[in-house]
Amino acid sequence: MTDLERKQERTPVPSGWTYAPAPESRDVVQLRDRYGHFVGGEWLEPKETYPTISPATEETLAEVGQATSEEVDLAVKAARGAYENGWSNLPGSERAKYLFRIARILQERSREFAVLESLNGGKPIKESRDVDLPLAAAHFFYYAGWADKLEYAFPNRKPKPVGVAGQIIPWNFPLLMLSWKIAPALACGNTVVLKPAETTPLTALLFCDVLRQAELPPGVVNIVTGDGSTGAALVKHAGVDKIAFTGSTEVGKAIQRELAGTGTKLTLELGGKAANVIFDDAALDQAVEGIVNGIYFNQGHVCCAGSRLLVQESISDAVIEKLKRRLTTLRVGDPLDKNTDVGAINSKMQLDRITELVEAGKEEGAEIYQPPCRLPEKGYWFVPTVFTNVAQSYRIAQEEIFGPVLSVLTFRTPEEAVEKANNTPYGLSAGVWTEKGSRILWMAQQLKAGVVWANTYNRFDPTSPFGGYKESGYGREGGKHGLEPYLKFDSEAFGG
Ligand code: NAI
Ligand code: MG
Repeated sequence: MTDLERKQERTPVPSGWTYAPAPESRDVVQLRDRYGHFVGGEWLEPKETYPTISPATEETLAEVGQATSEEVDLAVKAARGAYENGWSNLPGSERAKYLFRIARILQERSREFAVLESLNGGKPIKESRDVDLPLAAAHFFYYAGWADKLEYAFPNRKPKPVGVAGQIIPWNFPLLMLSWKIAPALACGNTVVLKPAETTPLTALLFCDVLRQAELPPGVVNIVTGDGSTGAALVKHAGVDKIAFTGSTEVGKAIQRELAGTGTKLTLELGGKAANVIFDDAALDQAVEGIVNGIYFNQGHVCCAGSRLLVQESISDAVIEKLKRRLTTLRVGDPLDKNTDVGAINSKMQLDRITELVEAGKEEGAEIYQPPCRLPEKGYWFVPTVFTNVAQSYRIAQEEIFGPVLSVLTFRTPEEAVEKANNTPYGLSAGVWTEKGSRILWMAQQLKAGVVWANTYNRFDPTSPFGGYKESGYGREGGKHGLEPYLKFDSEAFGG
């Protein structure tokens, strides 16, 4: 009998007030059996394919292409052609019209996209419906607004597009990461070859329909699917002027080595191990909601997840008590059920990684808590987990778990909180919970993190730049800052 089973035996699932199933209908999504690569506005028949599955049921949803370097080459050539045949010279106000159209179509078809995102990636429908889709559309709206105002954004610097952008995205926010990449690139007059993650290609492939509906000129956006070898072929391609990557620090480092000295522009958005810091004067019930949102949102598959809870010692018992009670109310299961809080783990590979790190946490001496919870038989699942008695040296306090697993540490003084929060090779995000405004500002100055949230967590807006320090990468996405990686300026012609 496992620890979990023992606990389940002791604590029966509460039976008084349960939720009836409320599944969202799949009928709104029309899947094809087989998808090719989207190159030059046409579907290119793939040389090789692989099945893409639903992580909640392990059923095959469709066959998708595994692009070879020749297919990547065709996509880059299509992007170059579209760049030279007019896209880069189109007035900004004309480019803006396409971006506005894409944003509107995403809104109109948002239910279809939300269902497909949950089906292919495992995230709860209430998140894909209320977070991923509205934010994806908002990114296109926001960058549409900049397309004809680049000279005002960068006065006297004569901004020009960079050329062909190669964009590689992860599986945790498939359509949202696509919008973070494509919207600013097009607004600045670049063309694109984008590669979705191998486990979640379907919303990117459906997006090709949107591009056709918006009558975007062929070749301005090309989408090739496949695994890391397809990504590597895109990075190596000499015809690409800029690479934008979101994913693991390990692959980010390899890409940086590959591009060193080539002159290809590069931005990297990599992992994180964020501290969520709770002071003794914080509103505790709100803080507990923030802790839950910080680490269990999207199964913890979030680069900026608040995976290290730093709680002031005098309130730590109270916070942990409240948190455990709150965990018993989280509903884990069918991503398409509108009541689900925590969906499926994205892949077998990711489940194995989470399991390995959780085992390491137990072995190193941390105390584990998992609420009673029945998991579906098929698919990939992990019970929301809290570790207490965690030392800073433990792997669960150092490494990105990228799953629904929280490590709790304590501190006594604000100085100690800062020291512990910054004791990580990463620097993407942090959270601060306190009633004291001056302490928020002081903490925000001290924390080495690209984003610091105060009395909230995981809040995103296209107007706000997002990105990291140290091993979390460099470059910013979102806001005016997010335009810069897709532009070159007159001064750069002189090596400035
Ligand atoms: P990964 O970094 O291998 O995958 C991200 C993207 O990069 C995918 O599209 C993948 O096909 C592509 N890729 C893989 N190898 C490549 C290469 N050599 N050249 C170019 N592109 C390549 O991440 P993976 O293996 O899916 O996850 C491993 C860990 O990375 C996770 O457990 C998590 O800790 C972290 N991660 C962080 C993300 C973030 O948002 N910062 C997103 C995904 C993973
Ligand atoms: Mg990998």
